Amino acid sequence: MKHALVAMGVAFGATLMASHAAAQSATDEIAKYREMIADGNPAELFEAKGELLWKKADGPKKASLEKCDLGLGPGVVKGAYAQTPRYYADTDRVQDAESRLLTCMETLQGFSAAEIAKTPFGRGKKADVVALVTYLSAESKGVKVNVKPVHAKEKEAMALGRKAFFQQAGPYDFSCASCHGEEGRRIRLQDLPNITTPAGAAKGWTTWPAYRVSSGQMWSMQHRLQDCYRQQRFPEPLYGSELTVALSYYMASLSSGVAMATPGIKR
Ligand code: HEC
Repeated sequence: MKHALVAMGVAFGATLMASHAAAQSATDEIAKYREMIADGNPAELFEAKGELLWKKADGPKKASLEKCDLGLGPGVVKGAYAQTPRYYADTDRVQDAESRLLTCMETLQGFSAAEIAKTPFGRGKKADVVALVTYLSAESKGVKVNVKPVHAKEKEAMALGRKAFFQQAGPYDFSCASCHGEEGRRIRLQDLPNITTPAGAAKGWTTWPAYRVSSGQMWSMQHRLQDCYRQQRFPEPLYGSELTVALSYYMASLSSGVAMATPGIKR
């Protein structure tokens, strides 16, 4: 892995080796910015939109999502996100909040989950899903993550997530762990949490969905993972796929016991 990083010299060299001082000051700037807008994270706009969408009759069936069962019973949103991903008997799958929303949008409202999954981020119903998941995550703010593999399929998701996290491939032989497997790694002046530890996993997991100041966009965890796979030079993962949900399962499970701090705000 060390020399894979060297091979990436052209792409990342300068930024990976950015001086400690510069990196520290960028981190400080972001912390200051977060403080400044702590009372007005733009994510709140997405949260408000998500709440409206949750309650709005929509789709061919002209129904709202208020009967959607996120795992704590139909319509229960408080604390539900903090227990995802989890196994759902009706779909016989482990789902994260986003893929669960697709199920509800299909069964309750009559939309096509496959169509929404294919829609690019930021467009149409996909943008609605991101707003919805921002709302749901906010309803778990301060609630401790509780994702523990009990069902056989949850155990499978945990094992698959861990395996995927360490799987090296692609032109640079990268895995998630190449960038997120050590303390103190930085790319483009950003601190990369060591996701293999509970504290590092929680730093990532409990703060997404997040508003990204640099792009002015609201990103869900599925979007975060898609972009990391791009940085890893892997093919684009399918939205809501078993693989992406398993990666989230792994990160969420390691974060169990830490309070959700969503929606987050990032560089
Ligand atoms: C080539 C390096 C690289 C690889 C490989 C990579 N990431 Fe990332 N990851 C980043 C960078 C850079 C950021 C910060 C991006 C930002 O803030 O704009 C990040 C951010 C994250 C975050 C959010 C962290 C936080 O503190 O908010 C999570 C979670 C994450 N990555 C998970 C993964 C997973 C899972 C994989 C494997 C599928 C992966 N990453 C692979 C570079 C990488």
